[in-house]
Amino acid sequence: MIKDEVKVFGPATVSNVGPGFDLMGFALEAPGDEMIIRRNGTGSLVLVDESGCNLPLDPAKNVAAVAAASLLDELETHEGFDLVFTRKINPGSGVGSSAASCVAAVVGINELLGNPFETAALIPYAMEGEKIASGATHADNIAPALLGGITLIRGYDPLDIKHIPYPADLWCAIVHPGLEIKTRESRKLIPTEVPLKTALQQCGNLAGLVAGLTTADYALISRSIIDVFAEPYRTGQLPDFEVLRKSALDTGSLGTGLSGSGPSVFSLCRGEDMATTVGEVMKKHFTERSIESEVYVSRISQAGCRII
Ligand code: HSE
Repeated sequence: MIKDEVKVFGPATVSNVGPGFDLMGFALEAPGDEMIIRRNGTGSLVLVDESGCNLPLDPAKNVAAVAAASLLDELETHEGFDLVFTRKINPGSGVGSSAASCVAAVVGINELLGNPFETAALIPYAMEGEKIASGATHADNIAPALLGGITLIRGYDPLDIKHIPYPADLWCAIVHPGLEIKTRESRKLIPTEVPLKTALQQCGNLAGLVAGLTTADYALISRSIIDVFAEPYRTGQLPDFEVLRKSALDTGSLGTGLSGSGPSVFSLCRGEDMATTVGEVMKKHFTERSIESEVYVSRISQAGCRII
C-alpha cells in the first residue's frame, strides 16, 4: 500500500565517546526528534516547524532538507514532501541534534518511496545535511542515529561502519547545560596535526575501548575513555570541567567526557541506578555555578531511527 505520510523518530546520540573522535558514537533511547513527512504534490520540500526551536525554514539552510534533497537528487525523483518538525532536540546541545533530523528525513522519505535503499545505504545522504551543521563530513552521530547501538567508523573512504557489541548493563547519564556550542566553531579549536606520541595514545585508547566493550571489561573501558585529540581544546568552554569529571568518576562513572563537541557531558555507567546518581552529581556541578541544566539517563539503544 502506498503511504502518503509517516512519522519518524530520530534518536539523540553521543559521539566521540572519548578516544573515538569522528569515529565512534552510540544511540540513546531518549531524547530524540520526531518528524512527520508527507507527500505534498508540489515537487518541493516544504519545512514546517512545530517544535518551538526556531529552525531555519529555508531548505538550503535546514540540515534535514539538505539531507532529503541529496537523497531525492540521487533517486532523480521530482516528488515533493512536507517535513514537519514536531519535536526537536535543542540545536547546539552536543547530543546529535542535526544528525537526528537528517536521519529522520531520509528514513521517512525512503519509506514513502517504497524503501529503494537499505537503511545503512542512507548514511551518505544524511551526512550531506550534517556537513552544513559542522562544516565537515563526519558520521559519528549519523551512523548510530540511523543504525542504533554503538557504531565504529573504521574508514571514511570508502565508508566502513561496524556495530561494536557492548555489555547489556551499560547506561549513560548526560547533562545538558544551558550553554550553546556550535560544532562548526568548536572544530576550529582543534589542531589539524598531532605528534606521533599523541596519535599512539589515541589509537591505544580507542583499541582499548573497543576491546573493553566487546569483552565487558569495565576496568579497561574506564581506562580507555580519554580523548587527546579534541577534548583538551574544547573543555575550556565549560566551567571547571575537570572538577565535574572528577566528581562523576569519584561517584562511579566509568568514563566522563564531552558528548560530541559539547556542551553536553556524558558519563558511561554500569547500571541505571549508578547512571541516575552520576547524572544528579553532574547537574549539581552546573547548579552550583548558576547554570541550568537537563539530565538524561538512558540505556544505549539498540534501535536507531524508526517509523513510529
Ligand atoms: N565528531 C564531531 C566533533 C561530533 O567532535 O566535532 C560533533 O557532534
